[in-house]
Amino acid sequence: MSTAPNHLFSPLQQRSLTLPNRIVVSPMCEYSAVDGHATDWHLVHLGSRAIGGAAVVMTEAAAVSPEGRITPSDLGIYSDDHIPQLARIVDFIKANGSIPAMQLAHAGRKASMSKPWETPSRTLPPAEGGWTNVVAPSALRFHDEYPLPHQLDRAGMDKVIADFIAATKRAVAAGFLLVEVHAAHGYLLHEFLSPLSNTRTDEYGGTLANRARFPLEVIRAVRATFPQDLPIWVRVSAVDWVEGGLTLEDTTEFARLVKAEGIDLLDTSSGGNDPRQQIPVGPGYQVAFAETIRRETGLATGAVGFITEPAQADQILRTGQADVVLLAREMLRDPYWPLHAAQTLGQTVPWPVQYARAASGEVPRREPLKVFLKGEEVHPVRDPEKTGKSGSGFRDSLARDGLKITSTRQTPDGRFLHEGEGSGAMIISRVPPEYWDSLKEK
Ligand SMILES: Cc1cc2nc3c(=O)[nH]c(=O)nc-3n(C[C@H](O)[C@H](O)[C@H](O)COP(=O)(O)O)c2cc1C
Repeated sequence: MSTAPNHLFSPLQQRSLTLPNRIVVSPMCEYSAVDGHATDWHLVHLGSRAIGGAAVVMTEAAAVSPEGRITPSDLGIYSDDHIPQLARIVDFIKANGSIPAMQLAHAGRKASMSKPWETPSRTLPPAEGGWTNVVAPSALRFHDEYPLPHQLDRAGMDKVIADFIAATKRAVAAGFLLVEVHAAHGYLLHEFLSPLSNTRTDEYGGTLANRARFPLEVIRAVRATFPQDLPIWVRVSAVDWVEGGLTLEDTTEFARLVKAEGIDLLDTSSGGNDPRQQIPVGPGYQVAFAETIRRETGLATGAVGFITEPAQADQILRTGQADVVLLAREMLRDPYWPLHAAQTLGQTVPWPVQYARAASGEVPRREPLKVFLKGEEVHPVRDPEKTGKSGSGFRDSLARDGLKITSTRQTPDGRFLHEGEGSGAMIISRVPPEYWDSLKEK
């Protein structure tokens, strides 16, 4: 067995997925969706970063319910009608060799707000597209300009869990191969975890075990719903950066609990739950959290925050501080950061064939993503041309899922949305219903 250290361009196995390198596009809200629907902005934004060669391209926080959006322009995964456009983006990401991931989120008490670039920040009333059913563990405002949330009761918590389950099924239907549960940055699940926002006196408040109970219920439900051969990550805020808030010890214990639930990686961010936070922002300022949790729990971690330089990212991996690095703003400055980082570090990585003439020297061609499970290809890239003629990929996935098509309808962009019993999955393709009918008879 090789004892060579990991590095920025070494692969990482996560269940059936092989990340071709350790670079992840960190989730970034674009506030460019319409009623939760992804737009061409998302296709180009996420697609560019797949062309750029990141191993994982993660969507922004996708709301599991309308009231779980931060703003009316957030990306959503709360309606089947969101699936086709997402599937188009997923297909593009896979065709360019990256793993499409979706961050599943509920904004909790930070919902129904104006877009961040519309200053000053304020709560939107229903007349301006906002909503009043803003929910949280406790009826505590985040800040003056934020709404006063309703304290969730058991029925409300059950609805949130059901929303996460339905959203996970839709993410599968759209073809995402990885989901990340957002439990950071002061949104609903972080609000439960932190004593600053959770003052409940029932079994969901008080001790860390109690505060972790609801986030774990959600995580357990998502894990039970998402295919077992595909990984799930959880994003946490390791600390609140406020006296009396979450500590690294708390989060390390939470990491042990999520590991026991079968979570594959902890994406380790910080802050966002209290305006009093004092964050010592600087290069790699959150990396030590990822390192401690990785060392103490044995759970894989992701490091995020002010990671901008190839050598810096490479060192985080070589020294075992984390298993992946997530880059946000640097990826906005340079969507081709992975290609540039490879050049800087003297690594040869595949380039999209269309761009190969811009590489220095000979480079391998980028191939569409392939996923193997026990030697068999699974989750094949949907190729409308091929599937329309031979149907091989879809036939296999149908058989594997034991799927029975119960209804089919055409989506506005010309795809067919097939809903089925059995796995509860939905499949989107450009294959006409007659083709599916012919399969059903076999
Ligand atoms: C424009 C923008 C939008 C963001 N939206 C999200 C989000 O949807 N979900 C999330 O977990 N973090 C979000 N973040 C935080 C980033 O994922 C990342 O954790 C943070 O920016 C620190 O990394 P960086 O220094 O590489 O930018 C956002 C950051 C930016 C700059």
